[in-house]
Amino acid sequence: MRFRLCLVVAYVFFSSILEVTAASSQGTETNVSTFVYPTGDGNLTFALTATNGGDVYMHLSAPATYQWVGIGTGSKMEGSVMFIVYENADKLSATLSPRLSDGHSEPTYSSSVDCDLFNQTSDHGGIVQKGSSRYYSVNIHCKNITAHGEGDGKLDFSNTKQPFIYAWGPTDGAVSSASKSASIKRHDSYGTLWMDLAKATSSNSDINATFTEAALLTTQNAGADGQAQSDGDKVGPAHAVIMLVTFVIIFPLGALLLRFLESVKAHYIVQTVGLLAAVVGIAVGLYLGTMYNHSKDVSSGHQVFGLILLILLLAQWAIGLYHHLRFRKYKRPTIYGRVHLFAGPAIVLGGIINGFTGFNFSGDSHNNVYYGAVVAVVIIVVLALLGWKRWSKNKQAKHSRMLDDEELHEGSYQMNASHGASY
Ligand code: HEM
Ligand code: HEM
Ligand SMILES: *[C@@H]1O[C@H](CO)[C@@H](O)[C@H](O)[C@H]1NC(C)=O
Ligand SMILES: *[C@@H]1O[C@H](CO)[C@@H](O)[C@H](O)[C@H]1NC(C)=O
Ligand SMILES: *[C@@H]1O[C@H](CO)[C@@H](O)[C@H](O)[C@H]1NC(C)=O
Ligand SMILES: *[C@@H]1O[C@H](CO)[C@@H](O)[C@H](O)[C@H]1NC(C)=O
Ligand SMILES: *[C@@H]1O[C@H](CO)[C@@H](O)[C@H](O)[C@H]1NC(C)=O
Repeated sequence: MRFRLCLVVAYVFFSSILEVTAASSQGTETNVSTFVYPTGDGNLTFALTATNGGDVYMHLSAPATYQWVGIGTGSKMEGSVMFIVYENADKLSATLSPRLSDGHSEPTYSSSVDCDLFNQTSDHGGIVQKGSSRYYSVNIHCKNITAHGEGDGKLDFSNTKQPFIYAWGPTDGAVSSASKSASIKRHDSYGTLWMDLAKATSSNSDINATFTEAALLTTQNAGADGQAQSDGDKVGPAHAVIMLVTFVIIFPLGALLLRFLESVKAHYIVQTVGLLAAVVGIAVGLYLGTMYNHSKDVSSGHQVFGLILLILLLAQWAIGLYHHLRFRKYKRPTIYGRVHLFAGPAIVLGGIINGFTGFNFSGDSHNNVYYGAVVAVVIIVVLALLGWKRWSKNKQAKHSRMLDDEELHEGSYQMNASHGASY
């Protein structure tokens, strides 16, 4: 009796051990390295399996709330071969854009990187619904990948701690493009990971690169190097804020002060501050331009027109000063005063229009609705104030003409005061 019981207990004990070993060996037999990182909005999952022949099969999935998600070889942007995924034009599938990077700027699509999407799982389109969230979910096949990348960005299949980088874009403004060289914005966050490539690489040259659900569940043969670093483009907003405040607030204020305080000094100071702000804002714009492929050769309408405006602004400032000095000397209106008077509003309007083209250029054209509303209010208020000032001044002039006979003198003064910065 006792002996039989012992036998049963022993049987149960050993068979459970056997089951465990079977399960765990099944887990490693996948020969996949998998990295799972919890972003704020769901998991970023990157899995890889490779053959000695240089074929790399990868799975990448991440919340589609991000404008893009990318994995790169190596420990830094420079020299990295990047696999970037974003929403396709149909908004249902994903576009894979293999890119090369030479440092801290937008990586550039390279047709020589031989990578394609392949579908061996049920999620074909590249964008899937998981619960209430949309996810990018793609399988990538790359051939001869070691032909690309510099430094540790060149994959080493025997490396048990091969570094990779990951990053994801901002949550606004889907790319929605089939183009592999579509513009992407600077990362919301980025980080580094390592993978055991030796474990993930098979000597068998024709493997069946199916990523089973189980192989994608948790991190295996891989790990994170610390937390993701939060980032974001602060240069773009800085450029926009400086330029918009300058053209929509500072310059119109300077014009109003001339009329209302009848003070050339106030006008001069405020417009000089505006000019300096514009110079700083445009310098920031030039630096911003170096970060993105669509702006690095300074050829877009927004940039060229902006630089022309800068030249006009400098000229406008010099002409205003020259006119003022001559007027003080000869007490007579000058042609420079007339030019200054007509060019001023035109330049400011040009700058305001360049704000609209700026939002279009950066892909933030939805902001033009709010910007347009602010601009409309400012233009109406400024025109109303200037009109009212002119009207009340005319009335006052008429009144004093009745009292005073020196009409000729009075008339010419009137002309200067209401039409030109002729003090
Ligand atoms: C428009 C595209 C991109 C721009 C403008 C950009 C710009 C930058 C800048 C300025 C830095 C330095 C940040 C700092 O030191 O504060 C940086 C770092 C970094 N970026 Fe990007 N990046 C872009 C795309 C990507 C992509 C697609 C990835 C990965 C797939 C990535 C991964 C990283 C990583 C890992 C770092 C830290 C390591 C390093 O300094 O290289 N970036 N990026
Ligand atoms: C009157 C002058 C200008 C105004 C009012 C202006 C305004 C703006 C605005 C509102 C944006 C959108 C920013 C965003 O969405 O975050 C923008 C983008 C941009 N501006 Fe300007 N800007 C001016 C001149 C310039 C100049 C002279 C340059 C460079 C030569 C420049 C370079 C850029 C670049 C590169 C972007 C887009 C960056 C991206 O792709 O996100 N801007 N500008
Ligand atoms: C991907 O899957 C879809 C749907 O099953 C199929 O129509 C398509 O031919 C597949 N593409 C490739 C490259 O296997
Ligand atoms: C892989 O790339 C290298 C370097 O560019 C090239 O010499 C080689 O022929 C390529 N191999 C294949 C199979 O495409
Ligand atoms: C997968 O990995 C296991 C253990 O790491 C190894 O025994 C097996 O040969 C590998 N399979 C292939 C196809 O390389
Ligand atoms: C690869 O694996 C899938 C799923 O296990 C299977 O349906 C398919 O036939 C396999 N293909 C090859 C070439 O072995
Ligand atoms: C993310 O992955 C972890 C395991 O790495 C899992 O426990 C968790 O349920 C996953 N979250 C989502 C939203 O899939």
